[in-house]
Amino acid sequence: MNKIPEHVAIIMDGNGRWAKSRGWPRIKGHEAGAESIKVVLREARKLGIKYLTLYAFSVENWNRPSLEIKALMQLLATFLKKEEKELHDNQTRLRVIGRVSDLPKNVQKELKRVMEATSHYTEAQLVLSLSYGGRTEIANAARQIAEKVKAGELDPADITEDTVASHLYAPDIPDPELLIRTSGEMRVSNFLLWQISYSEIYVTDVLWPDFREAELNEAIDNYASRNRRFGGVDGK
Ligand code: IPE
Ligand code: IPE
Ligand code: MG
Repeated sequence: MNKIPEHVAIIMDGNGRWAKSRGWPRIKGHEAGAESIKVVLREARKLGIKYLTLYAFSVENWNRPSLEIKALMQLLATFLKKEEKELHDNQTRLRVIGRVSDLPKNVQKELKRVMEATSHYTEAQLVLSLSYGGRTEIANAARQIAEKVKAGELDPADITEDTVASHLYAPDIPDPELLIRTSGEMRVSNFLLWQISYSEIYVTDVLWPDFREAELNEAIDNYASRNRRFGGVDGK
């Protein structure tokens, strides 16, 4: 019960199915999902989780119908405006990982504003993954490292795991101990590929709009019962 992870990452999936099961348009599911973000952020703070990383929009999600993308971007801008207070109340710093420059200008502006307004909070961080792809992130790191080699600043013989890790989007954030995926899909969908190498994975059939305080607590309790060996053996 007292083993609280420092960093929890969540693949928030199932908004569309949640809406469909009610005969509603998919965007209604995304709206209900935004409410779950608020509730889960608050509960994570209560539990003492320091970093909460949420998969909100993947690089692959640009392949969705343009109307859904438009609605999601609009929802994101509204969410940032409405939930800034929530971040202040929870003394939480907003961060973003992903290809932020892909996002509409108004969303970029909102993100920048809220990130600046919350940049002084050191207790907790909400990390939104937007236009995020794990392979894109690793390829970016490789490119930056190659540029340093080309400029003569780095010897290829000195490239280690730490070199790669330090060129990811948010190198100061520790790897997540726990990765949660809602809606029952048993896949990682290009999320945090480098960072989850030893994360505990928890998949629940609950759809994201139904994932609230009790569901987060269940995931954390399940995590607390895990035996993490990191390739070693028990008790050593
Ligand atoms: C997750 O819900 C939200 C995003 C990917 C933006 P989905 O929209 O993927 O919902 P399902 O998987 O179709 O039910
Ligand atoms: C993963 O959900 C991406 C986000 C939650 C933002 P998807 O619904 O896009 O993933 P797939 O298509 O089921 O792999
Ligand atoms: Mg989905």
